Amino acid sequence: MSHLLPLSRVAKLVGQPRHALQEMIRGGTLATFDGLVELDELLRVFPEVKWDDDAEFRRVQEIKDKAFAKRVLERALPDKDVLVARLNELGDDYAAAKALLLHYGNVMTWLDEKIDEIEEDTSAETRHALHTVRAFLLRNLAEVPPDAVLAQAAIAQERIFKIMSAHVTIQPSGHAFYVDGNDTLLEAALRNGVSLNYGCSNGNCGECKARVLSGEVKKVHAHDYVLKQSEKDAGVILLCAYAPVNEVVIEANVAGARDIPVQRMTAKVKSVEVFNPHMAALHILAPRSQRLRYLGGQSVDVSIDGMRGRYAIASCPCEDRHIEVQIPRRAGDALAETVFATLKANDTVEVVGPYGEFVLDEDSPRPVIFLAFGAGFAPIKSLIQHAMSLELAESMDLHWLADAAGHYQDNLCRAWADALDNFNYLPHAPTDDLDALLKRIVVDYPDLHRFDVYAAGSAAQLERARQYFVGEGLHGARWFAGAVDD
Ligand code: FES
Repeated sequence: MSHLLPLSRVAKLVGQPRHALQEMIRGGTLATFDGLVELDELLRVFPEVKWDDDAEFRRVQEIKDKAFAKRVLERALPDKDVLVARLNELGDDYAAAKALLLHYGNVMTWLDEKIDEIEEDTSAETRHALHTVRAFLLRNLAEVPPDAVLAQAAIAQERIFKIMSAHVTIQPSGHAFYVDGNDTLLEAALRNGVSLNYGCSNGNCGECKARVLSGEVKKVHAHDYVLKQSEKDAGVILLCAYAPVNEVVIEANVAGARDIPVQRMTAKVKSVEVFNPHMAALHILAPRSQRLRYLGGQSVDVSIDGMRGRYAIASCPCEDRHIEVQIPRRAGDALAETVFATLKANDTVEVVGPYGEFVLDEDSPRPVIFLAFGAGFAPIKSLIQHAMSLELAESMDLHWLADAAGHYQDNLCRAWADALDNFNYLPHAPTDDLDALLKRIVVDYPDLHRFDVYAAGSAAQLERARQYFVGEGLHGARWFAGAVDD
């Protein structure tokens, strides 16, 4: 009887992104059966994985060690009802496996007796053959094959994952993610960059209604919004109040840029990070009760003491309450001057948005080139982080064409390149000859027709770049541009 594992679970077990495994499947180095990986195949392809180096066990131990920190414990472990349901399911699996083993044991005993019975009136030759079969069976039953220990460790790891997290697939979009700890379905979706519809996030508005197509969920937060009996019968739940017990498939709408309403909020400054005399990041903390809904690459209006400016968001929608905008210091820009000179933590800012449709095409599996001109790095940073959280692109190349502000987050880009084997960082020094630079860049992509390109900069820079990329084979429809002010 083979033990089959879904690809996403394999990715978690071996610590590799899903797209890397998909690449191995396409290349023929990892075999699958109906989209599932057999345990034997897993052990064969990843012999270097230390199955007994149980990071998840250690994490649980660390959590226990910090048990005095009640909030940590509450967040990291599943809700108690969910935990009980998952342990029950595990108990059922264990009981089924044990019953099957007992059955196999009985079959073996019966076989043994049958051989005795047949032996009595057969020829010496047949008796010898029966002896050989019995010896073979007994020897193999007594010997634990070397792979069995590894298989046991791998299955134990998988079981722990199943207790600590549950896999969720959203239909019809096909987005997939894990719900860890005591997150609700909505919290986990947002943490993974999946922009599901929601409003209040605390059970009042009903905007996060969705339908469970398969699997089991449990209510982990009370909600005031009342679901009709007919909705309950059809499997409708509130994503902000429920958590998955096991692998679930949910029918829910994933919002596009046009579906997200403009929101207004009064928020606090978390910090001002001045990179250099030309560029600063303003880190904003949304109120606990009102997280900002947006997609990577969109913009917001920020107002401080009556001064207002529109800025590309540089953070990831997966970042809970944190919103980052990057503010270039330009002559005569009073808001920028305030940010650089006087704004401090806990000051109040007004945020209105999001705006714009410079967002990822989440349906595209193509490799991506990101092109950031100067301060155009802000929306590109947001898009890259969003793509990372969604594990979207097969490969990502970032070309950052610096202006006077330089590559002010060079370390961050290098860290991405170090951490991800599908991410390349290619910084380009400021130049007066943009055409020569663009020519040099496109020459490195003889197969541009395979790519998506996301570019952010001034309108003039974007038009020049578009001509080079489309001229060298990029499909016009795969050019996505977001203009930022000069
Ligand atoms: S988001 Fe309002 S009820 Fe779930």
